[in-house]
Formats: sequence, structure tokens, C-alpha cells
Amino acid sequence: MATTNLQFRIATADDASKVQQIVQSAFQTNDSRPDWTGNVELASKFRIPVEEVQAKIANPDITTFVALDADKDNALVGCIDVSKRGTDYARISMLAVDDSYQRGGVGRQVLAYAEDYCRRTWGTEKFSLNALSTRKALIEWYNRRGYRKTGTSPFPFREALEGISGLPDDLCFIEMEKA
Ligand SMILES: CC(C)(COP(=O)(O)OP(=O)(O)OC[C@H]1O[C@@H](n2cnc3c(N)ncnc32)[C@H](O)[C@@H]1OP(=O)(O)O)[C@@H](O)C(=O)NCCC(=O)NCCS
Repeated sequence: MATTNLQFRIATADDASKVQQIVQSAFQTNDSRPDWTGNVELASKFRIPVEEVQAKIANPDITTFVALDADKDNALVGCIDVSKRGTDYARISMLAVDDSYQRGGVGRQVLAYAEDYCRRTWGTEKFSLNALSTRKALIEWYNRRGYRKTGTSPFPFREALEGISGLPDDLCFIEMEKA
């Protein structure tokens, strides 16, 4: 598959509903790559209200980027957000790529763009993010992008686990850092 010709810009309030759709459907997708999705039933319960996306876009401490396919009328195909947490440290979240664009190198480009923006704009030298502990292949993907496990944090949405079997008792978020 040819590399997608991506353009990036900071998200505006008008992007909120499209970003919400991309994030929600990307997280719900049952990816066929082993251990990429983790628990499919849990993934299918993932919801992000449009108000949460609107609040992120409006928050001056968070910069949300959208990735656009320059060869497809600038269709919105991915997103990510970054927040400056210290003089040399930024937190990354809400990385998502439209289902139909996944596995084509878009996620890699979106993450690299966000890191590069932080370096250029804030002089960031250290990045952190987290991933659900069951998503082994995703964690390895972050390893290939230079992230290393630093610890764990609790999975806070315990009610979402009700009735789901096959989840480990120690389900948590793996905290990762790249320096
Ligand atoms: C995580 C996510 C953003 C990755 O996006 P993506 O566009 O699929 O990522 P890439 O194409 O850059 O990389 C995907 C990996 O798939 C594999 N891959 C790439 N092309 C492939 C192909 N043709 N066939 C099979 N696998 C392929 C490679 O292993 C690649 O990793 P590598 O670059 O280290 O070799 C995307 O899966 C997503 O939106 N998931 C749901 C939301 C989510 O989980 N976000 C992260 C929360 S912590």
C-alpha cells in the first residue's frame, strides 16, 4: 500500500464530531492482528462523547491535531492530542486512525508528527502515553516507536468490565515513556 499523503493541522470546534466518530470506531474495531485489539467485547463498549472531544479541542492546555488525506479532498483520517506537562515533557493521547486507513503507516506518521511538533514548539525531550495491558501488539508497536514501560496505572472504568469474561484480574494501563 502506498504511503498516504498526509497534511496536519490543529483541530477546530468544527472537527469535533468527525474526530469523535473516528476515535470511537477505531477503538471499537476488532483488528485481526493478534493481540492488537485486546478483548474484543471490552473494545466494543468503548464510547467517547462528542462533548469530551469538544472540551479537549477547546482546552488551551491540550493541542489536538487532525491528519488529512491530501489526495482525498483533505478527508479527516486520523487524530492525536498532546499536552505540555513540564519544561521538557509532553503527554500524548487520543491517537486514532480511521479503520479503512489502518496498517498503511498512517498511525506511525501521526505519532511522529505530534512528537515533532512538541520538540519544535516546546523543546520537549520526553513523551509519555499509556495503553491497555491486554493490547500486547500495540504495546510492541509503541516499543518500535521508542517507548518503554515505566509502570502501570489502574483501569478506572470498572463498570465496563461487567459480564466480560477472559480479562486478566490485573487489567491495567501500561504507562510508557520515550526520552
Ligand atoms: C493504534 C493505531 C493508531 C495504529 O494506526 P495504523 O495506521 O494502523 O498504524 P501503522 O500502519 O503506522 O502501523 C501498524 C502496524 O501494523 C503492521 N502493518 C503495517 N502494514 C501492515 C499490513 N499491510 N498488514 C498487516 N500489518 C501491517 C505493522 O506491524 C505496523 O507496525 P510497524 O510500523 O512497527 O511495522 C490504530 O490501530 C488505531 O486507531 N487503533 C484504535 C485506537 C487505538 O488503539 N489508539 C491507541 C491507544 S493507546
